[in-house]
Amino acid sequence: MKVLAINGSPRSGHNTAKLLDAFLEGAASAGENVETRRIDLYSLNYKGCTECFGCKVKGSPMYGRCVYNDDIKELLWEAANADAVAFGSPVYFGDITGQLRSFLERLFYPFTAFKKDGDRVIAPKKVPTAFLYSMNAPEPPVEGGYAQRVSDMTRWAHHVLGYAPEVMVASNIWQMDDHDRYEMDIWDWEQKARIRDEQFPEDLKKAFEIGKTMVSNSINNM
Ligand SMILES: Cc1cc2nc3c(=O)[nH]c(=O)nc-3n(C[C@H](O)[C@H](O)[C@H](O)COP(=O)(O)O)c2cc1C
Repeated sequence: MKVLAINGSPRSGHNTAKLLDAFLEGAASAGENVETRRIDLYSLNYKGCTECFGCKVKGSPMYGRCVYNDDIKELLWEAANADAVAFGSPVYFGDITGQLRSFLERLFYPFTAFKKDGDRVIAPKKVPTAFLYSMNAPEPPVEGGYAQRVSDMTRWAHHVLGYAPEVMVASNIWQMDDHDRYEMDIWDWEQKARIRDEQFPEDLKKAFEIGKTMVSNSINNM
């Protein structure tokens, strides 16, 4: 089985990456032959969808595939053929990062079909997904859960890849160790340190369980 974690945070090794690594550890713990890999999007050169319509050309061998030739061309196909994928992002202005958004545009658009007598979705297979977020503020109380509100791309993941994504948010996270350097003293850093030590490990456990459950379910459905 192949499980990918797509990291939409510019900070490799920080909160979002840690959540994704915990997800992958959980996935790996669920079976013997589970291959896992984290990809840091900010280390790659690519654009969002350019509306070239190369994925929609009639009779083309690339129909339903992204043709734009850059660092993510192969990765997109790999993700669409994986057995499970987690997408991670810090919450930026209430949403996912632009980098992850651009990646998802490229992943989903080739698989949405507009041919009159054809299927509306032409992804190569159904792929269970998870969206794992980190954010600085305490999670606002929102009916149905704040995590569900962060990105509409979860709806598209459901439509295109066939399963309702698992969604979680790690809130009130520890942003930096050298906080004294910055004009950022509106937060109570002592309280935040306690949350880092008590709540974040629970968030990591939750991400681990999501990975483990997702892969266990896939193995059971084989
Ligand atoms: C441009 C920008 C916008 C942000 N917007 C929000 C926000 O809307 N809500 C929030 O709680 N935190 C916000 N944050 C804080 C980040 O969500 C937080 O630092 C993030 O979880 C760090 O993830 P990382 O450790 O993976 O880099 C923002 C940070 C930046 C740099």
